Amino acid sequence: MVTDSYPTVWEFEEHTRIKLSILGKYLAAFGRVLLSKNPQINYFDGFAGPGEYDKGVPGSPIRALQTFKNSHREKQALCVFIEAREDRYKNLVEKVEAYLRDNPTVRRPMIIHGEFEQVIGPELDRLARENKQLHPSLFFIDPFGFSGVRLTTIRKILGMPKCEVYFNLSYNSINRFIEVDKVEEHVMGLFEDGAVLEALKKLKPGERREDVIRDHFVRALQERGGAKWVLPFRVNRDDRKATAYYLLHCTNHPLGMRIMKEVMAGEGSAGEYAYLGPEDRSQLFLFKTAMEDLAQFFLDRYKGRQMTFEELIYDSYPLTKGTAPDYRGVLLDLEERGQITMNPPAANRRRYKGRPSLPESVRIIFPG
Ligand SMILES: C[S@@+](CC[C@H](N)C(=O)[O-])C[C@H]1O[C@@H](n2cnc3c(N)ncnc32)[C@H](O)[C@@H]1O
Repeated sequence: MVTDSYPTVWEFEEHTRIKLSILGKYLAAFGRVLLSKNPQINYFDGFAGPGEYDKGVPGSPIRALQTFKNSHREKQALCVFIEAREDRYKNLVEKVEAYLRDNPTVRRPMIIHGEFEQVIGPELDRLARENKQLHPSLFFIDPFGFSGVRLTTIRKILGMPKCEVYFNLSYNSINRFIEVDKVEEHVMGLFEDGAVLEALKKLKPGERREDVIRDHFVRALQERGGAKWVLPFRVNRDDRKATAYYLLHCTNHPLGMRIMKEVMAGEGSAGEYAYLGPEDRSQLFLFKTAMEDLAQFFLDRYKGRQMTFEELIYDSYPLTKGTAPDYRGVLLDLEERGQITMNPPAANRRRYKGRPSLPESVRIIFPG
């Protein structure tokens, strides 16, 4: 049974805008890319909520319907909303019905009153038994805490072609409750091993609980959850200089990873992969390579190799803070200084904004 102390509809805080904005921008791109080759896509909102925040701000289910409508994908995108608490389920149904009345071209979503694991788990097992697959799907898993979702379910989702997960890791509640005995079962369900509990008991000097929890979970997603790429985005609470949650995008598709990195970079504060709230301007090093180290990073990593600019983007995106426009500037500087060469060379490429252009097909030759 699902219980929490919040009312049916709760307060809208600024950080929620970021969570929903990343969702909306990524969903629009997910639809655009995948519907060019597939007849249908699905969006599963596993912890859908009541469909609105206070002040009438639309929640994630309505946000998804709006996104597909605005991108003219509303007929080809099936939305499935799952909500366990009855009052919120009823509120969600009302909000969706009102939206459909105002937007009659929008495809009717499935709205299910139930618990995510109990609804999705058996369905994924049935598909596996029958050797069937889902249409390309994005699963948004957005619980308040960390119960109600198991790593085994994430593994089943990511095991299907073109299925991805956008996960809200509620660091705050994990941190508050992780060492309470009765939640061990939930921790084990989500992490599938107790190493995180051990690591928290024996924090090394300078180690932060938050980093330990996040890193263990990212590793769990990669090593046992079947995610090739996990991109984290830190979200601070509006009123505190502390992390509220991490948004984690899990995918096995290079283009999905690339698009989400670019969406997250655009949403971050001051070049960070984080919404830091109105006060906190602290640095966040989720990626191994900071912007100012990019040139040396490229020279070291690709020493003696050649590749197209596009290949370089896909290979290095999970490791750096930069995105393609940053890369372009750094690589053009290296070319100008004679530290790398390109084919075709600068003189044979069109100029753009006063510099040689750098299309993604250009080959980059790094010295040995
Ligand atoms: C953080 S809220 C979701 C907010 C929503 N995604 C949004 O952005 O508008 C989490 C919701 O999950 C519901 N919930 C809790 N446990 C659940 C479960 N096991 N299965 C489905 N829904 C659950 C809660 O009632 C709550 O409405």
